[in-house]
Amino acid sequence: MKSSTILGVGHYVPTKVVTNDDLSKRMTTSDEWIVQRSGIKERRFIEHSGIGASDLAVPASKMALEHAGTDLKEIDAIIFATLSPDHNFPGSGCFLGHKLGLPGVPALDVRNQCSGFLYGLSIADAWIRAGVYKKVLLVGAEVHSTGIELTDRGRDVAVLFGDGAGAAVIGEAPDDGSGIKAIKLHADGAGAKDLWLEAPASAYDPRLTKEMIDEGKHYPQMNGKQVFRWATEKMPEVSREVLAASQLSAADVDLFVPHQANMRINQMVCAKLGIPETKTVHNIEKYGNTTAATIPLGLSEAWREGRCRRGSNVLFAAFGSGYTWGAAVVRL
Ligand code: UT7
Repeated sequence: MKSSTILGVGHYVPTKVVTNDDLSKRMTTSDEWIVQRSGIKERRFIEHSGIGASDLAVPASKMALEHAGTDLKEIDAIIFATLSPDHNFPGSGCFLGHKLGLPGVPALDVRNQCSGFLYGLSIADAWIRAGVYKKVLLVGAEVHSTGIELTDRGRDVAVLFGDGAGAAVIGEAPDDGSGIKAIKLHADGAGAKDLWLEAPASAYDPRLTKEMIDEGKHYPQMNGKQVFRWATEKMPEVSREVLAASQLSAADVDLFVPHQANMRINQMVCAKLGIPETKTVHNIEKYGNTTAATIPLGLSEAWREGRCRRGSNVLFAAFGSGYTWGAAVVRL
């Protein structure tokens, strides 16, 4: 069976920078609180209404295609990971395929929140190894700014999230030892309501009422402390799983790209794994949590900064809503 690898990556963030001080004009919060609790200094928001996750994904995809040296016509399938699709249906992958000019190319949306990119990577890897497709465009993109409550009631969640996109071209690995070495995925719905967006909901008839809107049920709700506890336990655990499956130790990791939910989470994960922060990607201070986009966005920046290259062992790990979590080891 063939192995697959990451042939190239790209990213895009909107130009509008929103600082912690900007947020403190809209709600009772402070730069000090946000930096101390999360490490976030600023994030990007879309410039105006009408820009969806698929719009952010277009430049990120083009950058990934160029980096991979892949012609658009070579793309056999799109996987689009997002929790903030342009519209409830159809999936953002369909919108992206149309905007890129890929008629007839299958498009699958993956709804696995912060772990979405790793779930998508697992699907792309399986497709390629099984010979179903040769080249897959895998995207993580989010527009959070239109879906968070920028008031005192929503401040615990609102200060954490930003908009952005990352993309990767996944294809057959050359016969040189490179490629995806291991991916492990997990989920536990017992924590589903610790980070969720309740409505509109097909479980309710009607799906959305004025009362629900008044109660803020159309905004995400989070039990932050519980999510924090799980993330700091599960990210190291699943990282050790993929390292063992790849027959690598933490010392063999050249670059660690963790999901960017909270700087404190990532510092604890690094400490538990024994991976120095110099080998770890942190860009939460610039972008906040961009959910499914954080891992490809972080890899794309790090690759361009020369922090990894062909032959580097890269470890990815994520934890988020679902709960879902996962990790992967790739030799670039
Ligand atoms: O990617 C998805 C996964 N998400 C995560 O991984 C997030 C995990 N959780 C966290 O990162 C942290 O729990 C937070 C950063 C969300 C919160 O940090 P915390 O240390 O758990 O703070 P807290 O929720 O216990 O809140 C402490 C205080 C509270 O006030 P009282 O009750 O102590 O008077 C909050 O009401 O801070 C208050 N607070 C705020 N104050 C200023 C909550 N949000 C804010 C805010 N600004 N934005």
